[in-house]
Amino acid sequence: MSGGVSRRLVFTNRKGGCGKTTTSVNVAAALAHMGSNVLVIDTDPQAHATMSLGIAQGGLVHDLSTVAEGRSTAEAAIRSSYVPRLNVIPATRRLADFERRYANTMEARFWFRDRLGPVMDRFDYTVFDTPPTTQLLTLGSLIAGREAYIPMQAHFLAMEGMIEIIELVEQVQRHHNPSIAVCGIIPTFLDESAPASGQLLRDLRARLGDNLILKPIHLNHALAEAPGAGQTIFQHSLRSAGAIDYYRVALQIRDAPAHGR
Ligand SMILES: Nc1ncnc2c1ncn2[C@@H]1O[C@H](COP(=O)(O)OP(=O)(O)O)[C@@H](O)[C@H]1O
Ligand SMILES: [Mg+2]
Repeated sequence: MSGGVSRRLVFTNRKGGCGKTTTSVNVAAALAHMGSNVLVIDTDPQAHATMSLGIAQGGLVHDLSTVAEGRSTAEAAIRSSYVPRLNVIPATRRLADFERRYANTMEARFWFRDRLGPVMDRFDYTVFDTPPTTQLLTLGSLIAGREAYIPMQAHFLAMEGMIEIIELVEQVQRHHNPSIAVCGIIPTFLDESAPASGQLLRDLRARLGDNLILKPIHLNHALAEAPGAGQTIFQHSLRSAGAIDYYRVALQIRDAPAHGR
């Protein structure tokens, strides 16, 4: 660690396609570009974060599932990405079997916390990208984490799902992990040309408080193209609106007080 506390961020929302992976990868990359040592933990069997960071799943002997099962050490599973200081514990399809096999095993919820803990302490930031569910993989991430951030599509219909996730985080906080709290909502896919977009942001701030609503990520084609090229937005298109938006949000997160321990 290069000084300061070790922070553990969890990007989560039970809705698919709301920007969890895009936000995890690009916030992590921005923090690494700013000089921090960052570990991305890909907890989604779809492995989109792993692929976005240029890591091929084929032939990976160690992944998050082998670490969680105690069959390999976390150290052995860490891969470096093409971004300096940005490392990954990759996901493979095996994580889906892991989730099925241990769905009813209470202790399994604590395996990420217990088996990744010493490794997370070595990094300035650990970033969990989660699947669009509220099952074991997401619960395990919230139990291991300290700061939950909710990417939320800037659309009225997305509001309900968000309240549900806030409640889930509160439940995990009460029962399993007093260190976790919702530290930010990140409006994504914001289209300023849509007449309702400004109203939505005002409503969000009024309901949840100015401090909780981070700077928005605009709808931006470069953000959709970058993963296909196996690149973060900063490699793909440094001058795009998407790069600027994610750099800003990463600064906000960096400058927020660290939560939990
Ligand atoms: N702000 C944005 N503008 C345009 N496309 C985006 C934006 N954010 C994400 N995307 C694209 O939308 C899709 C869903 O985003 P993703 O981050 O994978 O969501 P999730 O991880 O929540 O399922 C991906 O193809 C991604 O590249
Ligand atoms: Mg995803």
